[in-house]
Amino acid sequence: MTPNSRFTLTRTLPIDATAAALATDVTQGLTRFPKTLPPKWFYDARGSELFEQITELPVYYPTRAEARILQDAAPETARLTGARTLVELGSGSSSKTRLLLTALGTPLTYVPVDVSESALTEAGHALTAEHPGVTVHALVADFQQRLRLPECPEPKILAFLGGTLGNLLPAERHRFLAALRALLGPDDALLLGTDLVKDPATLVAAYDDPEGVTAAFNKNVLHVLNRELGADFDPDDFTHVAAWDSENEWIEMRLRARRAVAAKLPGVDLSVDFQPGEELRTEVSAKFRRQGIRAELAAAGMRLHRWWTDPGHRFAVSLAVPAPLAP
Ligand code: AVJ
Repeated sequence: MTPNSRFTLTRTLPIDATAAALATDVTQGLTRFPKTLPPKWFYDARGSELFEQITELPVYYPTRAEARILQDAAPETARLTGARTLVELGSGSSSKTRLLLTALGTPLTYVPVDVSESALTEAGHALTAEHPGVTVHALVADFQQRLRLPECPEPKILAFLGGTLGNLLPAERHRFLAALRALLGPDDALLLGTDLVKDPATLVAAYDDPEGVTAAFNKNVLHVLNRELGADFDPDDFTHVAAWDSENEWIEMRLRARRAVAAKLPGVDLSVDFQPGEELRTEVSAKFRRQGIRAELAAAGMRLHRWWTDPGHRFAVSLAVPAPLAP
């Protein structure tokens, strides 16, 4: 078999769905107070590149901590589940994917799910070439929308790694986990990566690096609005803010106006004013505790079956299995 015969791609996202979703999010987020934007709009080609750079920063520990955990968690997950299919939500770049694929062995079906068709095609072709026993069925989909998975060998693992669960607000998190639960058969499992609560100085430092890469990543959303909506934001009018919210136990990234700003966004027929010092929330990145994860999984009909952390207890990987819904 040639590598290409083991790669197929299904698009469940209409080609214009992204533009429509951006317009809705911008219109809603910039006309309320305080102003907010969902973090998914960071990730155009440049934003994805900046995020890759973030994962290599000395202060940004989550990626390295998770990779370290997966060295143990991947083989154990393979043993515990005997999975024949790996579904990866928000697959992005794939060093951790390779750890999982290797541990699961062949034959294996790999279903990467991402909004970026180009990322899926590139990664899919590379993986089929590298792993002869792996069949790739890529899915262009927004994993926060209703997911329909292709027919694939059972049992399967759903993997949602990197700590991206923390980008969802609590109510969104519950809906999302419940939707994942609905995809699990009796022998399937969910592998979940989450960042953990720790001292605020370490957390804030991870989102405010001295090199300014995270600041550039944060401001990239303004470049996205300028390009996609014809907006006229000057990113230099804003400063990067990273703050720990101890009540909600999440990091907030914000863009703070250094002066009064009057921006035009012709693509959504909107004018937006910022007072000097006014902040736009661009991301929440929630941090978790074991009991909280256990409770959120239970509320969505899953049982925490296995829990791994790195030696510094900075990050956790959870293996969850279907359970009767808690009363
Ligand atoms: C990719 C969502 C896990 O929240 O830590 C990194 C994104 N934001 N630095 C995170 C991010 C600022 C990252 N996630």
